[in-house]
Amino acid sequence: MKYYFDHNATSPMRDEAFQVIANPEYRRVVNPSSPHHYGRQAFQFLEDARDKIAAIIGAPSSSIFFNSGGSETNNTILYNYCTKSDSKKILISSGSHPSIEVTAKSLLENRPGIYAQLPLNKEGVVDLEYLSGFDQGSISLVSAPWAQNETGVIQPVSQLSALKKEGQFALHLDGAQILGRAQINLSKIDADYVTFSGHKFGGPRGIGFIYMADQEQITPLIKGGFQENETRAGTEDVLSAIALAETLEAVDKEVKANQLKWKKWRQKIINHLRANHINYILLGENQERIENTLSIILPNINTPILLMNLDMDEIAVATGSACSSGAMIGSKVVEEMGLNKGWKHSLLRISFGWTNNDEDILFLCNRLVYHLLKK
Ligand SMILES: Cc1ncc(COP(=O)(O)O)c(C=O)c1O
Repeated sequence: MKYYFDHNATSPMRDEAFQVIANPEYRRVVNPSSPHHYGRQAFQFLEDARDKIAAIIGAPSSSIFFNSGGSETNNTILYNYCTKSDSKKILISSGSHPSIEVTAKSLLENRPGIYAQLPLNKEGVVDLEYLSGFDQGSISLVSAPWAQNETGVIQPVSQLSALKKEGQFALHLDGAQILGRAQINLSKIDADYVTFSGHKFGGPRGIGFIYMADQEQITPLIKGGFQENETRAGTEDVLSAIALAETLEAVDKEVKANQLKWKKWRQKIINHLRANHINYILLGENQERIENTLSIILPNINTPILLMNLDMDEIAVATGSACSSGAMIGSKVVEEMGLNKGWKHSLLRISFGWTNNDEDILFLCNRLVYHLLKK
């Protein structure tokens, strides 16, 4: 897969994951709840994977629960908090993934005044002053992306966690985009729930995990079994859990070197645009960010058309949100950052990952400038 620059959508499966899944040795992995020795062996594999992940993210193994990924975790948290009978508020950061925003809005549509959206500033950072303006005791849950998927901006999680200490609300962070792109240490953050997804960092698809500081607060979305310490019914996908853990271990070892490389690549593309007098606006560029993401507005350019032209060169990029049917619906975050509404269809997101090298970047620079100057 040459010229694939859409790792924030899905990062192609890395060798570490593929080797686990294709390993005939693992055919003997059976149901980890079975009481026989095969079952015990599967259980041990699952627990080893959990321990590996826990050590990497600085969390106790007992706080990690496997599930199908980001959307499931986000739905689980929102269902639990939006269906509480009290009248405390659910505050959702703008720029949140639809599995958070859509779920919260639909669950709260008949309960006016409970849902509120936290605005973003023009740099794509959640407005903490706005949050501080609420009576802290009246908030039930605050949910924010750890790193925003379109802009790559890392949100002020330490400050959110400090505010949480002052108030009594629960803090949910969507960490789907940060894992594998920056090092994280959950022992330093006072979050209650964090979302993680395997396919965002080259692990298997359809598996992820949730970090829960206190699982007692959560009723499972999928009921009817005692798996995952009764947080989620259904036989665990042990093989995918092993593959996820192996991948994460490899990714974690590379992350520091990758951050430097990605930063250099971002600058190279920016320099190329500048040298060719192309008008662009960088989104959240002065903020702490996941270095693999370059998010730019190209004023007066219809980026979905640019995407199609680049696609003919076998270059894959993104232009804000594509709905599940693949249709381009424009960038919501551009509007949420209070930028010119006309730029909704002028966002270009380039997200790097393990498939890319220096030559790919050069090819991308040349073709991007070619298409932009041609118009
Ligand atoms: C920030 C964020 N949260 C959640 C998700 C959903 O994750 P999954 O595809 O594992 O359901 C995504 C993926 O698009 C994402 O970018």
